[in-house]
Amino acid sequence: MGCNKVVIKLGGSLITDKSNPHTVNWESLNDVIDQIARFHNKYDSKIVLVHGGGSFGHYEVERIKKNKSIIDKVATSEIQESMLTLALAVIKLLVNSGIPASLHPAHTICNTNNAKNCNYMPIIRDLNNGLIPVTYGDAIFDNEGKIISGDDLSVEISNIINSDCLFFATDVEGILDEKGNLIKEVNKNYKITIINRAQFDVTGGIISKINKAFNSKSSNIRILSGKKLFNALIGEDVGTRIIN
Ligand SMILES: Nc1ncnc2c1ncn2[C@@H]1O[C@H](COP(=O)(O)OP(=O)(O)OP(=O)(O)O)[C@@H](O)[C@H]1O
Ligand SMILES: [Mg+2]
Repeated sequence: MGCNKVVIKLGGSLITDKSNPHTVNWESLNDVIDQIARFHNKYDSKIVLVHGGGSFGHYEVERIKKNKSIIDKVATSEIQESMLTLALAVIKLLVNSGIPASLHPAHTICNTNNAKNCNYMPIIRDLNNGLIPVTYGDAIFDNEGKIISGDDLSVEISNIINSDCLFFATDVEGILDEKGNLIKEVNKNYKITIINRAQFDVTGGIISKINKAFNSKSSNIRILSGKKLFNALIGEDVGTRIIN
């Protein structure tokens, strides 16, 4: 069965080039937005989009932390600016595809970097009105600059709107074993092998993504390749299913 209500996290690994600072992966972003548009035009489902930091947010935080012991006000603003730049790229392509996207930067709806401490009413309002709300991992100034993770926002929103589906779209097929083969299902006992530490990720990467995903009450939770998002949306068994 396809998704009636879905939260889609567009991973920074998918929509940016994580090895190059401030670089959008336009080909991949275009492709994934085409799939979302195809699904939106064909089915009457509710969609919330969340995106990650990739070579924008994660890179900025790493750059700043090399020079400063904390993320101060100026640094917070720099991270926010870089994330807004990426968000505008996402919004631009969504709007060009005829998708009624509405942007909700996390620093405007969240009080701290705990995703439980956000006001999701504007997102729910837009969702109920037939728009496609978009938010993203961001920097929030709360005594000092703190990073709120797009993965946390996705899980929290999935629980608040009672989504049946929660999909984390990435640049890999799903959770891979040490040989690079796809694991079809993981439960809480699964011990993941990290196969690639080279790319930066200041919010915990793939291990924390899985641990966070276990906290969603959605019945269909997957980590999957952005190339197969449409297949997952229409109910096909792709990527790694998270069983909680
Ligand atoms: N065992 C594994 N299975 C799958 N991916 C793995 C594994 N070990 C490491 N990875 C890496 O985890 C990455 C996905 O997590 P990562 O947090 O970097 O991406 P993301 O969440 O899409 O990006 P962002 O945090 O910017 O939104 C993959 O690109 C892959 O290189
Ligand atoms: Mg990540």
